[in-house]
This record gives sequence, structure tokens and C-alpha cells, in this order.
Amino acid sequence: MSLQPKHVTVLLSEAVDALAIRPDGVYVDGTFGRGGHSRAILAALGPEGRLIAFDRDPSAIEVGREIADSRLTLVHAPFSSFAEELDDLGVSRVDGVLLDLGVSSPQLDEPERGMSFRFDAPLDMRMDTSRGQTVAQWLADASVAQITEVLRDYGEERFAYAIAKAIAAARTGGAVATTRQLAEIVEKAVRTREPGQHPATRSFQALRIFINQELEELSLILPDAVARLKPGGRLAVISFHSLEDRIVKRFMRDESRPPQLPSRLPVRAADLPKPRLALVGKAARPSEAEVAANPRARSAVMRVAERTEAQA
Ligand SMILES: C[S@@+](CC[C@H](N)C(=O)[O-])C[C@H]1O[C@@H](n2cnc3c(N)ncnc32)[C@H](O)[C@@H]1O
Repeated sequence: MSLQPKHVTVLLSEAVDALAIRPDGVYVDGTFGRGGHSRAILAALGPEGRLIAFDRDPSAIEVGREIADSRLTLVHAPFSSFAEELDDLGVSRVDGVLLDLGVSSPQLDEPERGMSFRFDAPLDMRMDTSRGQTVAQWLADASVAQITEVLRDYGEERFAYAIAKAIAAARTGGAVATTRQLAEIVEKAVRTREPGQHPATRSFQALRIFINQELEELSLILPDAVARLKPGGRLAVISFHSLEDRIVKRFMRDESRPPQLPSRLPVRAADLPKPRLALVGKAARPSEAEVAANPRARSAVMRVAERTEAQA
């Protein structure tokens, strides 16, 4: 039995149902994680179906390699390189794209990933441990203004400036290199407590979102996914953070209505470009039973849209 932290897949059947899988279709799981959604997609596909699964975390790809299924192609890359990777694989259009955003439980629960203040570990926080800067490396050189901006923009942290100044002051006595050091600095700088939340929650989340460019990644893949979907193909996105959900919601809304032109322009509605997406249902949230069984599901929101016949 594996002692590795498990990931409990969120909205498992809902997400797979949302993709309305065609047995011979080509699907993309942009966030393989521990393969919960991917395995269910494979189970729904027929022998001619295909699944291309991305993850930027080498340990997720390693787990994926244990799945002996010739219909599965694993790609170790950020999903923002979706279009390039599909080109390399010779795949021009796909029948569905699923994104289950954020981090997996192993990423949060393995102390050495440095994503959690619950353990003392090097301050890393990268999803892709094979490349890029760690949070400790970034904090060593970032200005107070840059740190403030990250904490405010990605963590909605009221005490962003006070925390950034405290980090800069702590740096003069040596690097801020561990999760424990950062948590203690933040705890002292945050003046009011939010009930039920560790004072460093917002800062850790902000730094993780920033160092992994999570919002930029999402903004990049959404238009590429729509461009590659076949008519009738589905895009399903599960978000765990209001900033992510806002990007998804606005994108799907803007792509599902005709361009908003000033009313005086002499353009007939019939001449306007047709929207490329049609919304499918309302935002879906996990049931009470799912949240009771898996508290990490509580902030999940899934939005689904279907590609129309309209040209890109
Ligand atoms: C919430 S987990 C996915 C869990 C998965 N659906 C399952 O059931 O096991 C998110 C995964 O997506 C990966 N990920 C997040 N952002 C990514 C990105 N921009 N490109 C590629 N992988 C990403 C993370 O490394 C993590 O493994």
C-alpha cells in the first residue's frame, strides 16, 4: 500500500458527465494530478478514443506512467502549451477539454513541496519542481512593492504592505528560506485574525499562485482550448479560487454572446459574428455529502460550455 498522500477527485462524475464523452473522441485532461478524472474518462472512452493528459508536476506524470493504456498520452508541460503540444502530437481538433485547477492533495501534503505552513520545509511551492524559481529565490530579490502587489492581487491580503516590509526586514538578517520562517513573519505582521483561518493562509496562497503563474496559465489556455474544440465539444473547468472562477466566468460569458456593439451602429444582428460557445447549465458545486467526505471540495465551482458551429 502506498503511504503517499492521496488526492480525492472533486466533482468526479459531474465533470465526466459534463464532457458528454463520445467513445471515439479525443479528450484533453489539462490537470492530470493523480489521474482521478483521467481514469474515469478512459473508462468512458471506447477502443478508438484518445486521452491526452497534461501535468507540469513530474510526480504526477510518474503516477500516470503506471497506467498501462495505449489510449493515454501523458505530457509533462504546463497546459498553456496546449496548442503547441497538440501540434507536436498531430492532433488538430479535440472533443473535450477538462481543467481541474489548483493544487493536488499530494502537493499540499508533502512537506518538501513547501506549499503549506503546517510543516517546516524549504520554501519552494513550484508545481514543476524541474524548472523555475522557488518562492525563497524570488523573495530574496523582490522589492517591497513587488511583494506587496503579489500578496494583494493574488491573496487579497489587507496587510500586504506590512507583510512585505516585514519580509524585507527579516531578509537583512539572512534569507527567508523556510515555510516556518515565512509563517512566523506573516503571523507577526497581520494585525487581525480571520476566524478559522491561519494568518498566513492568504500569503501562502498568493505566493503559490504567483510563482506558478496560475492565473496567466488559465488565461492562456481558455482561448486555445476553444479554438481547438470541435463543434459540440465541451470545455469544463473546475476552479477553487474566486480569482480563477472570475476568469472562467467572464471568458465563457464573453464567448457565449454576440459582440457588444454601441446600439447606434448600423449593423444587423444577423451580420454579427456568432458566439463560439454556448453555456451548458449553471455553475455546479459539490453536494453537501461530497464536501463532508472531502472538505477540500468545499470551494469548488465547475463551469461548462459547448463549442458551437461558429468559425473562429
Ligand atoms: C486539482 S489537481 C488535479 C487532480 C486530478 N483531476 C485528479 O483527479 O487526480 C491539479 C493538478 O494540475 C496540475 N496543474 C495545475 N496547473 C497546471 C498547469 N498550468 N499546467 C499543467 N498542470 C497544472 C497540478 O500540478 C496538479 O497536479
